Amino acid sequence: MSKDKSKDKLTRLKIMREKSKLGGGEKRINAQHSKGKLLARERLYLLLDQGSFEEIDAFVEHRSYDFEMDKEKYLGDGVITGSGRIDGRLVFVFSQDFTVFGGSLSEAHAEKICKIMDMAKKVGAPIIGLNDSGGARIQEGVASLGGYADIFLRNTLLSGVVPQISAVMGPCAGGAVYSPAITDFTLMVKNTSYMFVTGPNVVKTVTHEEVTFEDLGGAETHAIKSGVTHFACKDESECINYIRRLVSYMPSSWKQKPPVIQSNDKPDRREELLNSIVPEDSSRPYDVKKVIELIVDYENSQSSFFEVHRLYAQNIVTGFARLDGMSVGIIANQPSKMAGALDIESSVKGARFVRFCDAFNIPLIVFEDVPGFMPGTYQEWRGIIKQGAKLLYAFAEATVPKITVILRKAYGGAYDVMNSKHIRGDFNYAWPGAEIAVMGPHGAAEIIFKKEIDSSKDPAKALEQKVEEYRTKFANPYIAASRGYIDDVIEPADTRYILIKSLRILENKEESNPEKKHGNIPL
Ligand code: HXC
Repeated sequence: MSKDKSKDKLTRLKIMREKSKLGGGEKRINAQHSKGKLLARERLYLLLDQGSFEEIDAFVEHRSYDFEMDKEKYLGDGVITGSGRIDGRLVFVFSQDFTVFGGSLSEAHAEKICKIMDMAKKVGAPIIGLNDSGGARIQEGVASLGGYADIFLRNTLLSGVVPQISAVMGPCAGGAVYSPAITDFTLMVKNTSYMFVTGPNVVKTVTHEEVTFEDLGGAETHAIKSGVTHFACKDESECINYIRRLVSYMPSSWKQKPPVIQSNDKPDRREELLNSIVPEDSSRPYDVKKVIELIVDYENSQSSFFEVHRLYAQNIVTGFARLDGMSVGIIANQPSKMAGALDIESSVKGARFVRFCDAFNIPLIVFEDVPGFMPGTYQEWRGIIKQGAKLLYAFAEATVPKITVILRKAYGGAYDVMNSKHIRGDFNYAWPGAEIAVMGPHGAAEIIFKKEIDSSKDPAKALEQKVEEYRTKFANPYIAASRGYIDDVIEPADTRYILIKSLRILENKEESNPEKKHGNIPL
């Protein structure tokens, strides 16, 4: 080949490469920036370690002719795909480009996403999607719908194989919301990202409701009301930082253990404050997040506790943390919200988090202070029985190291559910003030001493005496400890050290469930 010809070819490659980076052109790029949104490529540069992005399929184009689509083609077809590194660890990524047909999904666009999903499965690395899409490419009809189904299938097959994270960074409608819904974690950005099956205009036509984008499917709506998103971020940069932080707690695939980092926090750090953090009066609230933060590693001038689903079902707290550098998943009842009672939303929230941790070998730490399941018609008619059973099922089937610390109340069915010894808790500890019983002393005394109280001259005083009698006899950790249901009653100040020691003992734990096709969690 002559020197000139090979120069021509290299020039063509260079021009094509430059063209592939232009997206939908200057006007649309400016429009994207003016909405306070970054471009698809800018997001990837922020997300990945500097210089680590390796793009593939930059020259893919759509193959549609209808509606004169053959006259409008953009290299890459509205999605940038490839791999990169987060803290040196390999991840696969796709980032939809809203400047090209509104990031809508064509057949070719879907094929690009499927290709990197298949690669993530083969290699065993997380897949991160930055979604910014108007849904199915309307001009392509069923070819686009098929493309979505191809992605949904892979989301499902990869569930539990590699971690899947979805950031929603724009208006995502129709098919664009179902892929994030199947993945493990969803993040949204306040005021610029929306998720809905159909937007406000269609809603008005079908149900005659008038609703804004924000109210129907904004970040706060889905973080607080529906629980569809795990994070409502203040801006895109926070969203991307959260993704990087999330990945730091996870292994790259189900075959690996989570990364261990060097901790500068002393493993045997005592926290005297824990000895008095739970109020004497067992009906008084306290913030369980303070308990968690005193126990887990302190790293890079912040707590290693990274809360997931912070704004949703706040009566249960879920999140990742590290103990002496080891990743753990924390599930804690929150006495400052609904007294920490388990209701439908908190059971489902807890169950999904437990299953993620179990799928990816992340040990579970439970901080328990629960008065029971929430009673009443609202809960019963919406299925607290089957919804609460999800949490029970999730804890029971989990085979990762499982440790429970009962801080105060462990009443009724909730005692069983919150990773009790009976459902394979490995280490079950109680603080000295723990009350482990079928129900609270007041309710119990009213039932079992009803006749004596009613026939007494002073029923109020009689009730008070019986409550005290019940409390002394049953509302403590020692009956459970005498049966071995509690492995030890521990001084609260030593909790951190005891948890770290227990995790070390359980490092090589092996446990499996009976052979089967798959279980049937009560959905
Ligand atoms: C083709 C689309 C598109 C789509 C947007 N565009 N959505 N092109 N297919 N689905 C194009 C627009 O024509 C426009 O092109 C550019 O993207 C930007 O769109 P705008 O409307 O100007 O932007 P904005 O005002 O920000 O509104 C964004 C939006 C709106 C809310 C996403 O575009 C919208 O409602 N789109 C349709 C959403 C939808 O109903 N999708 C189909 C869902 S059905 P130009 O050339 O002007 O830049 C579905 C089925 C799958 O997804 C179901 C699987 C379960």
